Amino acid sequence: MKQVTVIGAGTMGNGIAQVFASSGFEVGLVDRNQEALDRALATIEKNLNRLIKKERITEADKVLALENITTHTDLKQSTAATSDLVVEAVFEDLKVKESIFGTLDELCKEETILASNTSSISITKIAAATNRPDKVIGMHFFNPVPIMKLVEVVRGYATSDEVTQQIIELSKQLGKVPVEVNDYPGFVSNRVLMPMINEAICTLHEGVAGVEEIDTVMKLGMAHPMGPLQLADFIGLDVCQSIMEVLYHGFGNPKYAPSPLLVNMVSAGKLGRKSGEGFYTY
Ligand SMILES: NC(=O)c1ccc[n+]([C@@H]2O[C@H](COP(=O)([O-])OP(=O)(O)OC[C@H]3O[C@@H](n4cnc5c(N)ncnc54)[C@H](O)[C@@H]3O)[C@@H](O)[C@H]2O)c1
Repeated sequence: MKQVTVIGAGTMGNGIAQVFASSGFEVGLVDRNQEALDRALATIEKNLNRLIKKERITEADKVLALENITTHTDLKQSTAATSDLVVEAVFEDLKVKESIFGTLDELCKEETILASNTSSISITKIAAATNRPDKVIGMHFFNPVPIMKLVEVVRGYATSDEVTQQIIELSKQLGKVPVEVNDYPGFVSNRVLMPMINEAICTLHEGVAGVEEIDTVMKLGMAHPMGPLQLADFIGLDVCQSIMEVLYHGFGNPKYAPSPLLVNMVSAGKLGRKSGEGFYTY
């Protein structure tokens, strides 16, 4: 693989573009919003400067990485048509992703692998919008992408062994640690993490302990770097609610029902760090 297209230049897309460009791939970064592309390039440059300061890369490495990136506002005029791999990182919305994958299926070479960075949408459903479900796969990076080592490689119902192996090898080439999982609600990461966060919110709601107390128990007792309520604030309470709903509806099991306190806070616009208030005030 030589050329990669990353669609969506937000929080995840710019990090994904950075790791591919730093590993020597030609990267086409696509976003319908020019400002998002400008912000992404500025963020990538800032991250690379930080790595120079830490003596992890040289000035020449930075120049090379930046030269590897081109930006595009129109998917159809972008590098997608010639790329070996496309990684989609747009909003977490099935309709938007289906439309992009339908377009990619028409636009891309027959052998191009189409990956999604979705954290909770079924890869099998996204793949059904294409005529190449064997070449559709989840490449779930974690935030911040240049720092976090894990790539959850999510096999859809029809993803081939060959494509899975290619993505595993590619993730290693990026300096990441790939873990292969099957496509069921929440994959592994959110199926384990989100019920823990939800249970922390239920524990607060039932008055078992306060916010600081719950977070301190999990930080000092379980060696978690951040308590579950603080982590929920960082992820965004709306995102937590929507992932719990994916688990709840996906498994039809009441144990995944989002906490009523979580639902109330989201309805009241208390979304965590991004809205200035969640379990903590920012
Ligand atoms: N933020 C996280 O911590 C995190 C972690 C893992 C996975 N994810 C997943 O990554 C994906 C992206 O999340 P994010 O946090 O980077 O979102 P974001 O809102 O920061 O960025 C999304 C970008 O996609 C662009 N976009 C939307 N529709 C588009 C279209 N049709 N064509 C081109 N560009 C389009 C937007 O302009 C925006 O710049 C989601 O699927 C999310 O579930 C997020």
